[in-house]
Amino acid sequence: MADFNSVIEEVRSRNDILDVIGGYVHLQKKGSAYFGLCPFHNEKTPSFSVTPSKQMYYCFGCQKGGNVFTFMQEYENMTFREALQALADRAGVELPENAYSAESKSRDDVRRKLLEVNRAAAIYYAYQLKSPQGINGRDYFRQRQLSDETILRFGLGYAGVTRDGLVRHLRSKGYDDRLITDAGLANFDERDGLHDRFWNRVMYPIQDGGGRVIGFGGRVLGEGEPKYLNTRETLVFDKGRNLYGLNLARSTRKDYFILCEGYMDVIAMHQAGFGNAVAGLGTAFTSGQATLVHRYVRKVLLAYDSDGAGTGAALKAISILRDMDMTVRVINMLPYKDPDEFIKNLGREEFEKRIEDAEDGFFFEIRMMERDYDIKDPGSRSDFTHALAGRLLVFEDEVRRENYLTAMAERYSIPREQLANAVRKKAETGEYRPRENPRSGMRNGSNDDPVLRNQRNLITWLADEPAIFDTVRKYVEPDDFSDPIYREVVTQMYKDMEGGRLNPAAIISTFTDQEDQSKAASLFNTVLVIDDDADMGMALHDLIYMVKKAAVEDRNNSDVIDEESIRRNINDKRALEELRRATIKI
Ligand code: UTP
Ligand code: MN
Repeated sequence: MADFNSVIEEVRSRNDILDVIGGYVHLQKKGSAYFGLCPFHNEKTPSFSVTPSKQMYYCFGCQKGGNVFTFMQEYENMTFREALQALADRAGVELPENAYSAESKSRDDVRRKLLEVNRAAAIYYAYQLKSPQGINGRDYFRQRQLSDETILRFGLGYAGVTRDGLVRHLRSKGYDDRLITDAGLANFDERDGLHDRFWNRVMYPIQDGGGRVIGFGGRVLGEGEPKYLNTRETLVFDKGRNLYGLNLARSTRKDYFILCEGYMDVIAMHQAGFGNAVAGLGTAFTSGQATLVHRYVRKVLLAYDSDGAGTGAALKAISILRDMDMTVRVINMLPYKDPDEFIKNLGREEFEKRIEDAEDGFFFEIRMMERDYDIKDPGSRSDFTHALAGRLLVFEDEVRRENYLTAMAERYSIPREQLANAVRKKAETGEYRPRENPRSGMRNGSNDDPVLRNQRNLITWLADEPAIFDTVRKYVEPDDFSDPIYREVVTQMYKDMEGGRLNPAAIISTFTDQEDQSKAASLFNTVLVIDDDADMGMALHDLIYMVKKAAVEDRNNSDVIDEESIRRNINDKRALEELRRATIKI
């Protein structure tokens, strides 16, 4: 059988993107690209571009993009397989029998194996909890007032104080070391060999929406760092696209979810009868998670910690959820820190009341903003009014905006006319920039992260100017990119560039998920903004330095502390220092 990738590449290269898209969209040449009205969102001025040299399309309005396969999937609502078939037919390429199934089968096989070994590990930890050695774990859960039923429902477990209990167990079940490592269940180092990642912790299996175990969170018993150790990202464990408790929450009848910060919060809530509670997986709430929530409900109640960090996290979640047109309200947990403590102290009924009294997300945002002003002082009060006017522009729907405007005017005793005028002026001066990718785009949240932005800029620069490849490669490795898609793209770019020819459209083909394809495509289509008079060498140096520094810091904060990571840390620091002093010329 012909190599699957070369079949895809053949089909792709025989279908010129300009021809294909030209059949659907009226395009006009502008410079090296062609522009037209985007078929994926409503617009009056063309922001949809097709670049023949890259064999890619990209919309600067809604940020959808990809290669010819992505376009067919998106436009004709096809699966990757169907798009491949359609384009093969169009170009008269005969697809080898089973070309697709062989590839997808091997990928599915790996996933299936990873899920299987995770499940075996969960069973092992649950068994440990019940065994005589599990006494510490049982005591801990008892002290946190979890019933046996709750422990069972969440599949909770215990990782003892052995060095390699799980590894030995899994080996005896026939799982090989490679699989155990790939699942993130064990680490290797020269002194200890393969040893369990989780040790002296109570274990929270993390399940996907379908109830399959994809990873673990482990809470240390007693004092110890980190408090929670999570499985690193693996082929089946994507922290940005799963939610703790979703497998249970999705089947409650409520039309909203309660979004908490911690595993323990979710468990306490479920035990108290709030089966619609979910939580993130130790990272900030992402737009991927919002997409997931959106599949089930259109309303989210936030039950984040009542401290400063919790408030900050709540503000971010509100904006991500609102960008997807969901209703958000915020539950007041005071005087307690989190839902777990609240329920323990005041009980279920009081929490029920707090749900009813939950504050509108926008009201919450403005209340937090108000803290930065002294609204008794006329000057500061005017500033507040202008800021508020700017915020009201997040509502694109006029009726909604008017209603909030009225409510705000009343609440802060601002004459309605005055506030309305301020809003109008803000809108006219264009001081307010509308959100980057309305409705369709889900990549909003991450777009704002400066670390990701730097990573993206570096990839874009590299794609535009392969001449900088040797310099970039000298300091930055694919692992330094925190986003799995970026990492994959860079890995392939490096491979391409070593062979002397970058092929962006082929790189896009390696992702079958449309969102992933768009994200990868955006890397090749972003326009780099560098001052005309900037020293390019210095600009590149700074960019590389920022990317490297963030990666080093990230590894430094990582919860794995073993010899390998310590050694890596030392090397990282040395490389970073060397880079800081280096001069880059282009
Ligand atoms: P919290 O520290 O608020 O968790 O962190 P919690 O559930 O209230 O902890 P305890 O058990 O009651 O003391 C909230 C979430 O942040 C992630 C975990 O997902 C945790 O549930 N986290 C926290 C980590 O990933 N690592 C950490 O070291 C701490
Ligand atoms: Mn807690």
